[in-house]
Order: sequence, then C-alpha cells, then structure tokens
Amino acid sequence: MPSRTAASELAEEAMRSTLLALSQRKALGGLATRVPVTRPMVRRFIAGETLDEALPAIRRLRDAGLGTTVDVLGEAVTDEGDARAAAERYLGVLDALAADGVDRNVSLKPSQMGLGVSETLACENIGRVVGRAVETGAFVRIDMEDHASTDATLAIWEAVRPAARDRAGGADVGVVIQAALRRSDADLDALIAAGCRVRLCKGAYKEPHSVAYADKAEVDEAYERLMLRLLRAGSQPALATHDVRLIRRAVEVARAEGIARDAFEFQMLFGIRRDLQEQLAAAGYRVRVYVPFGAQWYPYFMRRLAERPANVSFLLRNMWRDRGG
Ligand code: FDA
Repeated sequence: MPSRTAASELAEEAMRSTLLALSQRKALGGLATRVPVTRPMVRRFIAGETLDEALPAIRRLRDAGLGTTVDVLGEAVTDEGDARAAAERYLGVLDALAADGVDRNVSLKPSQMGLGVSETLACENIGRVVGRAVETGAFVRIDMEDHASTDATLAIWEAVRPAARDRAGGADVGVVIQAALRRSDADLDALIAAGCRVRLCKGAYKEPHSVAYADKAEVDEAYERLMLRLLRAGSQPALATHDVRLIRRAVEVARAEGIARDAFEFQMLFGIRRDLQEQLAAAGYRVRVYVPFGAQWYPYFMRRLAERPANVSFLLRNMWRDRGG
C-alpha cells in the first residue's frame, strides 16, 4: 500500500492532470466565462476583462516599484480571422500602454496568433506586433506553450527578432524556456549564444514523459541548473518563479559572484505571492509581474488551479459562500 505522503502526491498528480485536461475543453471555457459565481476567484489571477479594467492594477504595480508585462488572454485559435483580430488587440494595447506611461512590455502566445492554422500566419501576426513594438519602444515576449510548438516558437522568434533588434529605441523580442522539458539544456545554450533575452519558467503544460521530467523534484533541479547558467551567461535573464528556494539560490549566487541586481529580473504572476514580489523589489531586485486580462481567461485560470490544488478547495469554499452556504 502506498504511504500517506505517496498517496497524497498521487492524488495531487491526478487532480493536476484532470485540471490540465479540463483547461483544454473549449466548451467548458465558453460556459465558465458565463458563470459569474466563479468570478471572485478568477479576479485573483486576472486583472480584468478589458484593458481599461486592468490599467488601474498595472498602475498600482508600477507605483509599488514593480514592472509589468501585459498578456491579452487567448490561445488555441483555429480561425485565421480570430488570429488577426488577436494581433490587432495587441497593437491597441501597445498604443495604450505608451499613451498611459506604464511599462511597454507585452507577452503573447503563438497559438493565439494563429500557430494552429499555420506557422506563416503566426509569424506574420507576431511580426505585426513586433513592428508596433518597435514604433512604441516596447518589449515583446513570446510565451512558450506545449512541447509540440517549441520548434515553431523558436523559429518564429528567430524570424521576427531582426525587425526589433536592427532598430534603435529599446525594442526587442524574447522567448521562454521551460525547465520541465528535457530538450531545454540544448535550447538554452543556443539562445544564450544568440544573445536572446530568455524567461525561464518551470512549465505549465501536461507533457508526455518522453519529452518532459515526470517528477517535480527533477523539474526543480533542472530549473536550478538552467537558472545558474542564465544568471552567469544570459542576456537580461528573467527568472519566472514563485519558488522561494530557487529565488534564494539566485540571490545567493548573484551576491557571491558579483552579478549586479539589475542584470536580471524576477518575474511572477498577477495575484500570486504579492508579498514576495514587494519584498524583492524593496531589497533592490527587479521584479516584473505578468498581468493577464481579457474574456478568454478559462485555460489560463485552470492552469493556475492545477499548479496549486489548494486553490481548488479555496474556489469551492468561495462558491459555497457565494451561494449563501
Ligand atoms: P511551483 O509550482 O513549485 O510553486 C512554488 C510556490 O509558488 C508554491 O508553493 C506556491 O506558494 C506558489 N504558487 C505557484 N503557483 C501558484 C498558483 N497557481 N496559485 C497560488 N500559489 C502558487 N509557463 C509556461 O509553460 N510557459 C510560459 O510562457 C510561462 N510564462 C510564465 C511567466 C511568468 C512571469 C511566470 C511567473 C510563470 C510563467 N509560466 C509559464 C508558468 C510556470 O511554468 C509555472 O507553471 C508557474 O510559475 C508555477 O511554478 P513556480 O515556478 O511558481 O513553482
């Protein structure tokens, strides 16, 4: 019989898998966005349904000394018109961020830009966003989705980057590496050699064991290995994690090796570990918060639930309370 710890780990893994599988159910997404009872919990992770709703949160973060990167929620687009419309929304956001005087920094997903239709379409749409970023002096980060899109995402990054880098004004394009994937050591080496601004995260998708580490401890170990490589040789690396042990390790190594506090940044998600975000900023570290907004919040929200099964009981308690129970 499995021990209590092993049993609870198995139950957590089963819960995580179920939530990640549900995150890909489009019909549920459509339903969920119409069910207001879940909204208070959703609003913990999502800054609003419109940019106007999200802007006050972005300004509050700026006033607290935190940087931001704005994500217009949306993914798994299968229609060319929808992908073009998503790119159009980003152009509007870049203009609005520049006009408002907040951080000009956005994150977008290849599948939102039409990768599911064709790589050419996604490349064209991301290229348009990068073009506007060049005009407004903004930074564009291409998020990394599941392993089936890694090669295409890296190829798109390579194709769109020159448009930003070849112009003055601080525009650039970065990508994301996921510690969970076995291929990431090799990918990171190539990106460091190319001078790419990399965001390192653990990886939020359910992946087959043939391409990803099965064990959380292995993912954490890989994160530490990649993080140290990035800190020592990367170009303005972004360490995206809320894992206090890994954050402490980065601080320790940076201090011991004389890596300046502004040579790298920590990144965290809106609504998660705000205390830690502020502590690090107060200690002089650069911290950037990933701020998602939009109506298409369901898959993003489900991944946040899957990361921490305790969030599910919190959600259920809230739903019960909202029903007056
Ligand atoms: P871990 O999951 O071990 O959590 C460490 C601690 O953080 C937990 O003990 C808890 O305290 C807190 N925590 C973490 N998640 C929480 C949650 N949902 N609710 C409440 N507390 C939570 N992934 C990806 O595949 N592609 C991408 O492009 C990105 N981009 C990205 C940008 C940024 C800025 C961040 C911070 C993260 C991503 N991710 C991502 C998500 C990432 O892969 C990962 O799933 C989450 O960051 C959770 O992993 P942690 O590193 O926080 O560690």
